[in-house]
Amino acid sequence: MEPLIFNYSRPGKWGVSLPGSERQLSRPEDILPVAYLRQSELNLPEVSEPEIVRHFTNLSTLNHHVDKDFYPLGSCTMKYNPKINDRLASLSGFSNLHPLQPLETTQGALQILFELEKYLCEIVGMAAATLQPAAGSHGELTGVMMMKKYFRERGEERRYILIPDSAHGTNPSSACSVNFATISLKSNAQGCIDLEDLRAKMNKTVAGLMLTNPNTLGLFEEQVEEIIRIVHAEGGLVYMDGANLNALIGYARPGDMGFDITHINLHKTFSTPHGGGGPGSGAIAVTRGLEPYLPVPRVVFENGKYAFKYDYPHSIGKVLGFYGNFGIIVRAYCYIRMLGLDGLKAVARNAILNANYLRTKISERFEVPYNRVCMHEFVASGEKHHREYGVKTLDIAKRLLDFGMHAPTVYFPLIVKEALMIEPTETESKETLDRFVEILFKIDEEARTNPEILHSAPHVTPVRRLDELKANKDLNVCWGKNVQTN
Ligand SMILES: Cc1ncc(COP(=O)(O)O)c(C=O)c1O
Repeated sequence: MEPLIFNYSRPGKWGVSLPGSERQLSRPEDILPVAYLRQSELNLPEVSEPEIVRHFTNLSTLNHHVDKDFYPLGSCTMKYNPKINDRLASLSGFSNLHPLQPLETTQGALQILFELEKYLCEIVGMAAATLQPAAGSHGELTGVMMMKKYFRERGEERRYILIPDSAHGTNPSSACSVNFATISLKSNAQGCIDLEDLRAKMNKTVAGLMLTNPNTLGLFEEQVEEIIRIVHAEGGLVYMDGANLNALIGYARPGDMGFDITHINLHKTFSTPHGGGGPGSGAIAVTRGLEPYLPVPRVVFENGKYAFKYDYPHSIGKVLGFYGNFGIIVRAYCYIRMLGLDGLKAVARNAILNANYLRTKISERFEVPYNRVCMHEFVASGEKHHREYGVKTLDIAKRLLDFGMHAPTVYFPLIVKEALMIEPTETESKETLDRFVEILFKIDEEARTNPEILHSAPHVTPVRRLDELKANKDLNVCWGKNVQTN
């Protein structure tokens, strides 16, 4: 186990040399009033440069990540993203910008915001967009806030939002956050929305439907036009959770299907890794009719200049400080410009091809409850393994870690028992997919012959099986007595 950085610390060690700095340094009391000066010493580790570099390099290999190996975490799109976009986003002209700089000095950045909104509108077939939301769920929140305002301004009291039981979990929480009550819609035997249930529940007290498409079973909602027609017929709005746009991009556009609002996870589809707590970007795009409700400021191009415009009386206001997570926006812009339409279409084709290749192979040994052509991901089930060999999905997931691969998403969606939600992504090679299948089949073999090795997995990771419930209920991110906080 890698020791704490404090364990390397010895008084007087230095990791930097700053020539001449002592001469130029002002005394703290010359800069700040004495009352505001720190009263005690700062407890910082004193280490050499090689020690600190090795420490963080060693730490970086303890956790799994996309640069290490396969990461088929369903619904999270942990794909390999081109490093060139990281390089471009960290160019000093981008990374040293301050959002309060005069606009004459930030025209290039504004052009990127303006053009990316246009590209995204074209990709999803909508009229206008905002890049302000900082995550997919934040995009959902922004969308439902707009729905709320839309109905309030029309003098309509609509209290409910319909959410299919195959929706992403953030959908109901976004709806509840703005005080809508949610009504659950049943899935049918094919894993799509039960139209009869929708017809029975849609009426003029319902503001609309939030539809995850593809849904969390990785299936395209084939009756999407009829679904939208039913909701629109009662005056409702239809929100598409488009977090998994890598399944549709270049081939199908939410706007053409009739959706009113969609969010797009730039940090999944457009070249920023998902996970790790952000930063992200949950851009949303809307129809012309909903455009007035978009957050302010909007980026405009007027009289040959880019500018921020605040004068939109129906806007829901701001949803984030400044204008969105700019580094993510630059990466997405580069990704779209670099790939072009043909490249973006290849993203969707490969995401779907890889998922269906894995689904077909894995279903030889594992149950796949909705075993038909899927989009970018599919959901297998460990129920048979549990029933026949006493091995749970969690055991299978933990055993995968011993082979150097990340586990799929487990126990989600809730409508599949012992779920293993697998998303290979568009960036993996056939060889990697075959290696994953080989490992899963070995685990299947172990389940029959030596289930104990699964029950006690993982065996070779830096930490063994953790008590995840305790980790959630009793959060303690401070390690050891050596760490003192000031
Ligand atoms: C279908 C779907 N909707 C919403 C979200 C929420 O996005 P975020 O994690 O950026 O809040 C995700 C996350 O990946 C998702 O897969």
